[in-house]
Amino acid sequence: MRHFLSLKDFEKTEILEMITLAQQIKAETKAKNFKPYMDKQTLGMIFEKSSTRTRVSFETGIYQLGGVGLFLSSNDIQLGRGEPMKDTSRVISRMVDMVMIRTFEQSKLEEFAAYSKVPVINGLTDSYHPVQLMTDYLTIIEFGITNPVVAYVGDGNNMAHSWLMLSAKLGFELRVATPKGYECDKSIVKEALEFAKVSGAKISFSNDPQIAVKDCNVVTTDTWVSMGQEDEKEIRLKAFDGYIVDESLMSLAQKEAIFLHCLPAYRGYEVSEETFEKHAEAIFSEAENRLHAQKGIMVWLDQHRQD
Ligand code: CP
Ligand code: NVA
Repeated sequence: MRHFLSLKDFEKTEILEMITLAQQIKAETKAKNFKPYMDKQTLGMIFEKSSTRTRVSFETGIYQLGGVGLFLSSNDIQLGRGEPMKDTSRVISRMVDMVMIRTFEQSKLEEFAAYSKVPVINGLTDSYHPVQLMTDYLTIIEFGITNPVVAYVGDGNNMAHSWLMLSAKLGFELRVATPKGYECDKSIVKEALEFAKVSGAKISFSNDPQIAVKDCNVVTTDTWVSMGQEDEKEIRLKAFDGYIVDESLMSLAQKEAIFLHCLPAYRGYEVSEETFEKHAEAIFSEAENRLHAQKGIMVWLDQHRQD
């Protein structure tokens, strides 16, 4: 049985199989041909952090696949009152067919998976947001970019780490620009660079957004204050001064470059209102693709239960 905890656990061919499934099921969904790939299956969805897209896309997605989603906020289940993760896992995974978790430490997700009888999907942790990256890659393909050169500008956070893993596994170029003191986690970088040796991915790091964006065809960023970092807000806003993605920065990229944002976006901070609205079609296609990419992931995991 396979879990979807980080892209580092998957081969390039497996990632591409999930993307192909997503494209196929998206086309069927658009034609109102809802095939019951996961008939009568239940997806448990545990949230220890807020969500708009992850909740709506997983709940709608499993329903369209013939199953049902159970929204389990940690405020409402005993996990929030201190029931251990491993007990929560041993209970829930005996009743449902698949579990998605949004939590804090990656180790909590791994603990749940270690005790689970069913596949577990990472719906965001402090370290990674892999379902978002599958979505972003699907969107890049749809926008006709066959040779991505991606600039990630901003915090060396869960999104940056996931971009590192996607680039390292698939072999495309990634340039990461972070302020000093907000670089990516060193052990994740080390691991990604090992994968990059195999895939041939060119990955570079700097503290200069202009160097990262020059002649690239995908520009992306994320909030400067992730969930759980609210107390650091003032200090972070100062540290990220100069890292806004605006039209002046975008002018350095290729003319046809797209701008992606996992959302929610904070205009005037990581992205200007003008740049955001100019790229709204790509950004909201990306948001919609959460629904489609995650169906590809769920169906693939369902098909690989015996592995
Ligand atoms: N991008 C993303 O994961 O959005 P939510 O936090 O709304 O789920
Ligand atoms: N880095 C952000 C992503 C939100 C989807 C966070 O963790 O809050």
